[in-house]
Amino acid sequence: MDADRLMVNWVSLVRPSLVGLEPYRPGPSLSELRREHSLEEIAKLNWNEDLFGPLPGALDAVRDELANAWMYPEQAYSDLREAVADWLELPPETIVPAHGIQALIAAVAHTFIREGDAVVVPQPTYGLYAQVSAGAGARVVRVPNRDFRLDLPALADVARTESAKLVWVCDPNNPTGSLVEPSEWAEFLAALPDGTAAVVDEAYREYADPERRVSREADVLAGRPVVLLRTFSKIFGLAGLRLGYAVAHPELAPFLDVVQEPFNVNRAALAAGRACLAHPEQIDDRRRQSAEARTLLAGLLAEAGMESLPSEANFLLVHVGGDDAALAGELVVRGFLVRPGSEFGLDGWIRVTVGPPPLMERFAGELAAVRTGVPR
Ligand SMILES: Cc1ncc(COP(=O)(O)O)c(C=O)c1O
Repeated sequence: MDADRLMVNWVSLVRPSLVGLEPYRPGPSLSELRREHSLEEIAKLNWNEDLFGPLPGALDAVRDELANAWMYPEQAYSDLREAVADWLELPPETIVPAHGIQALIAAVAHTFIREGDAVVVPQPTYGLYAQVSAGAGARVVRVPNRDFRLDLPALADVARTESAKLVWVCDPNNPTGSLVEPSEWAEFLAALPDGTAAVVDEAYREYADPERRVSREADVLAGRPVVLLRTFSKIFGLAGLRLGYAVAHPELAPFLDVVQEPFNVNRAALAAGRACLAHPEQIDDRRRQSAEARTLLAGLLAEAGMESLPSEANFLLVHVGGDDAALAGELVVRGFLVRPGSEFGLDGWIRVTVGPPPLMERFAGELAAVRTGVPR
């Protein structure tokens, strides 16, 4: 038998748009880093998880739900849909649960993108929009931010000239922390060409001042070309359980459900989500706590000569100057993970997740020490 004839060439079988894309690589694990640098503790200020932890009540709900692990989450799935709808005062048909925004980014891409469609993505922003769109066969067109904020007029212009299928909008934007103003949003929607939909990732929405942030639910209900993606990973403190939802017009929502697996969210996550929504005032408390921590960190860093951008999220983009990747490397040795800005094309900046004040004080002290060359 000809052994070579039996060997498959996988690259020739996979969809051509996937060839050349790199899978996401999370880097070394915490235990690997602890071992490598002989550290007892490492503070994760690099992934914008909520460092205050799960909202009260979530973990008890998970414990109680585990006894039901043998059952598919049929009822639990519609219970969450209804709990979110109640909380947001929206019809349940507009809520599409999912195992996080990452899953919804893929669902949106598979729902809309045909090979060769143009898709507009700001630069810099959350990396998965470009990656997943390209994987689905889109031609990704990047639009630079202006003054570290999304350039909404340019995003709409490019959508028009490219006859784009989708525009991705991240509000507040990762990694800049900037917020879209209501007037900018209204002008953007008015300028968006027919045939283009805006997908708005609102992962950090609940951290933003409710007086200042844009409410887009009415746009969805009114049939504007807008889909919202939201998560329990950030202010709810449940990143490890993987839970999110889309807010979509009732005509679109079933398509998102068609491309997702039927019960794609697990029972423990659904129970935790419902428990959090039973006490929505906790979200406001957490917002205030995070905002105070953000102000504290920005103040400490300013005293040490480092400016950060105004942020409405649970992270700060901090100007450190020089080689941000080398600086991030030195911070690891001291027990702090941060995200080097050069990974987003922002040389000389680092992105830092905010958290409990004592942690912020220790971090600001270590960062100042690294920059002034004080040995460990
Ligand atoms: C803008 C943005 N969207 C989505 C996610 C991931 O959300 P999820 O955990 O719901 O998949 C992140 C995580 O950092 C993010 O920064």
